[in-house]
Amino acid sequence: MLILGIESSCDETAASVAKDHTEILSNVVASQVEEHKQYGGVVPEIASRRHCENILWVVQKALDDAGVMLSDLDGIAVTAYPGLIGALLVGVNFAKGLALVANKPLVPVHHLAGHIASNYIAHPALKPPYLCLVVSGGHSHLVEVLSYTCFRILGRTRDDAAGECFDKCARAMGYPYPGGVHLDKASKSGNPETFQLPKPKVAGNAYDFSFSGLKTAVVNLLHNAEQKGVEICREDLAASVQKTIAEVMTDHTMRAAREYGYATIAVAGGVSANSGVRSAMQQACDKAGYALYLPPLSLCGDNGAMIACAGAYAFDAGIRADASLNASATMELTAWGELARNMY
Ligand code: KG4
Ligand code: ZN
Repeated sequence: MLILGIESSCDETAASVAKDHTEILSNVVASQVEEHKQYGGVVPEIASRRHCENILWVVQKALDDAGVMLSDLDGIAVTAYPGLIGALLVGVNFAKGLALVANKPLVPVHHLAGHIASNYIAHPALKPPYLCLVVSGGHSHLVEVLSYTCFRILGRTRDDAAGECFDKCARAMGYPYPGGVHLDKASKSGNPETFQLPKPKVAGNAYDFSFSGLKTAVVNLLHNAEQKGVEICREDLAASVQKTIAEVMTDHTMRAAREYGYATIAVAGGVSANSGVRSAMQQACDKAGYALYLPPLSLCGDNGAMIACAGAYAFDAGIRADASLNASATMELTAWGELARNMY
């Protein structure tokens, strides 16, 4: 089975062809990061315009690299939600046009289901059910992956997503956008015990996250130091921030695994590239005797391969869209999974 996957939910225009779900025949990513950097974050209108310019050649190259023609495809999968609406609309409309001319089934994919699927590409042994921590620039979810298209959300962020927290802390510390990766690098030469930062508990649901207090603490710490003329070692602060975020995420995941009886854990999303998160999760899972699956660094960020793979499983589950498909800036992961049941 050959599925073309198209991704344009944020600042990467990406396309890929997956064979039999997990064999990636091509994976093309056109990143806009350099352009958005000068504004300190993604500018939605610029993102949409660049997607418009790039989508044709990106998809064409994905087909060429894979050595397949449109007519060889079994389906066309596209990220339809959630994300920047103008950015999503480019991918969705392009995919609709392709599906129409090639007379192929159109499969709408939830972006987070795509991130979750990145681990299937790298780890054939990983099969549902398991527990997945999905941490990206826009979301922090603790998810029971019950099947390839059926999910239950145990916890989510109440405010900033993990990636947003990394980026905002990094920005306050003077690192360029996207700051998470710079903070990660800096933390390697810092002492994580230097600063004691808050780890907020959230009332109501013990598995929910809250990262905005941590960001505020970092901003206040920097302001106070500046006012007093005290020099802060950026590497030590970076290491302390990273350790705190990694500990919060690991604690939540391990508690949920124990309570819900999961011995198989995965991490996915842009923040799964973070070295502190990866090693904290690995240590905790080794100690508990759990199997841990992490995506390779090449599949942590947004890419078309994860959408093609998730699209293949969604195709199996019967998830389809017609020419009336619209993009949506928001959509629950669980609601997307329910599309499969409503199709029959
Ligand atoms: O999944 P993703 O590529 O896009 C969204 O769906 O949001 O995630 C992007 C986020 C950004 O906030 C970025 O700073 C963060 O992932 N990120 C990292 C690292 N690499 C990417 N955060 C911390 N450490 C990293 N090494
Ligand atoms: Zn993403």
